[in-house]
Formats: sequence, structure tokens, C-alpha cells
Amino acid sequence: MAARYDYLEVATSDGIATVTVNRPDKLNALNAATIAELGDAFRALADDVTVGGVILTGSGAKAFVAGADIAELARMGPLPGVHVSRAGQEVFRFIERMSKPVLAAVNGFALGGGLELALACHLRIAAANARFGLPEVKLGIIPGYGGTVRLPRIVGRGRALELILTGDMIDAAEAHRIGLVNRVVESDALGAAARDVMARIVANGPIALALALESVLHGEATSMEDGLLLESNLFGLLASTEDMREGMSAFIEKRPAKFAGR
Ligand code: COA
Repeated sequence: MAARYDYLEVATSDGIATVTVNRPDKLNALNAATIAELGDAFRALADDVTVGGVILTGSGAKAFVAGADIAELARMGPLPGVHVSRAGQEVFRFIERMSKPVLAAVNGFALGGGLELALACHLRIAAANARFGLPEVKLGIIPGYGGTVRLPRIVGRGRALELILTGDMIDAAEAHRIGLVNRVVESDALGAAARDVMARIVANGPIALALALESVLHGEATSMEDGLLLESNLFGLLASTEDMREGMSAFIEKRPAKFAGR
């Protein structure tokens, strides 16, 4: 039976799971319970053989996630602050290191922890009404769920520091221009666009997808030589799979491939 969550909805169809952060009265702000549920949900999806990829979005038309829950943060002292940050970092790192592709469908405000959550996903598609920002400095704190580390890697240090130091918001067009999102679509087309991209991804060989993610994620965090070594080893490993034989036979026989994930 599917797990029940207080602050998430999880639904799966055609091999694609959709996780919706569901606290619309608080613009889907991430309290500690929601962070913990995200960890539980993504761990379950990682183990679910019927799921090939995950779309992450927010409930309602206004927000993806408007940040960590400021009402909770306002009460924290220094050591709990470290713990809050690490607990979020752990869950977001798990999402980033999933061996299945995760796509953020950003349907409105993606602020603070909400932007950091989108940054931990592998791809980002934005609705035209989406707004992005890291307003933590306005609250006297810094991004604590990986924003200072991931944003510079995605958009470059200068652009990241402008967002981190001003706390200003940018719109979807600007987010696209600086490479923060893969594409922007009309707001009412976001769900379909996200599913379309994910459907094209999960039609590919699942082991190839997992090893591509591993090679990119690992390659980014290591030297050129070690990254290339890992890539060649993973490339060779794929030659042991039925999926490789199926993919190449299907090309030669001019038919769509049917991957079994073996
Ligand atoms: N934490 C806790 N509650 C939040 C929240 C957050 N990050 N973001 C929004 N909410 C709550 C509001 O307090 C409000 O609750 P209430 O109705 O009980 O008062 C509700 O969500 C709706 O938000 P509201 O501010 O009334 O909407 P708005 O359209 O006027 O403004 C924002 C939208 C996103 C600009 C504004 O909510 C905002 O600045 N949020 C905080 C963003 C932020 O600093 N995030 C980083 C946190 S580290």
C-alpha cells in the first residue's frame, strides 16, 4: 500500500512518480516534518522498481516552495541550527545522488530552501510565473541546504553571489538566461511539459541513465583524470548489459528499443 504523508502527495503513473509538496496555505514552506517526509518518500522511490524517474513540484498555483519554514527557524539556537541545516542537506543530497532522474517542475515561488531543493534536482523546468531567489541574508542567515555550494556550480560564482548577497528575486526568463532552469513554459503547460521530458528520459535504458547520473555527479567532484577513468569504466560496464544489446539491435532493426533494465 502507498505510504501516506501529511505534507506530500506521491502518485505514480507510466513509470513516472510525481511528488507534490502539499502545504499550500504556507506556500509549501519546508518545516522539519516536510523535510523528513521528503527523505522517506525519495528513499521509497529509489527502491521502487516500477519508478523510472521523479517529478517534484508544489501544490497550488502560487508556489513551488517558498523556503524553509521561517516560523520554525525563528526559534532555533546555534547547535539546533547546525542540525537543521545538516538534516536538510542530507535529504537534498540523497535526491541529487538518486540513480533515477529527478526533475523540478517549478510552478511559482522557489525561494530559499525551495530554490535549494530545485538545485538538488537534475533538471528544472519553470512556469512563466515562477520566481527564484535566496533571500536568507534578508533574515540574517545564509542558505543552509546547499545553495552556496550548488548555485555557483550551476550558474557561475558571480551570478550566484549576486543572488546570495542581494537576496533579490529573479523571474523565469532571467533564470533561463543564466542557465538556472532548462526551459520556461506557460504556467498551464508546466505539468504536461514536465511529463513529456520525463517520458522521453524514462524511455531510455535505466542502467544507462543511472550510470550517466553517476558519471556526471562524480565527475564534477573529482579531477579530470579520475572523472575520465570512472566514465570509461562505467562505459565498459554497460557492455555487459542486455540493455546495450537491445538498444543497438533495435537501432539496426529500425524499431523502438524495449529496455528491461538488465
Ligand atoms: N516560512 C513560513 N511561512 C511562510 C513562508 C516561509 N518561508 N513563506 C510564506 N509563508 C506563509 C506566510 O506567513 C503566510 O501565512 P499566513 O497566511 O498564516 O500569514 C502564507 O504563507 C502566505 O504567504 P504571504 O506572505 O501572505 O504571501 P504573499 O503573496 O504576500 O508573499 C512571498 C509571497 C513568497 C513573497 C512571501 O511569502 C515571502 O517572502 N516568504 C518568505 C520567503 C523567504 O524568505 N524564504 C526563505 C526562507 S529561509
